[in-house]
Amino acid sequence: MEKTMGPSIKGNCIDCHMPIEQTNAIVSETGNQVIRTRMRTHWIKVYAPAEQQ
Ligand code: HEC
Repeated sequence: MEKTMGPSIKGNCIDCHMPIEQTNAIVSETGNQVIRTRMRTHWIKVYAPAEQQ
């Protein structure tokens, strides 16, 4: 893949393989509102580009 993407692939492993997504692990309930925070997934895998945010 380095041939097609160039040197930028070297530093950003986590952006593709551990993208940030909404979590159910840390949930805050304030009044009637449920707030879920966003954090990096720890499930390292190949994510489809559409899943990246
Ligand atoms: C631009 C997004 C992107 C970046 C940055 C990236 N990867 Fe990947 N990676 C992919 C994709 C997409 C595939 C699947 C490629 C394919 O199947 O042809 C892949 C495949 C892999 C695989 C093989 C997985 C398998 O099941 O065979 C490994 C290991 C891997 N990457 C590690 C890394 C490491 C280590 C880095 C950082 C140096 C990195 N990747 C950076 C998107 C990325």
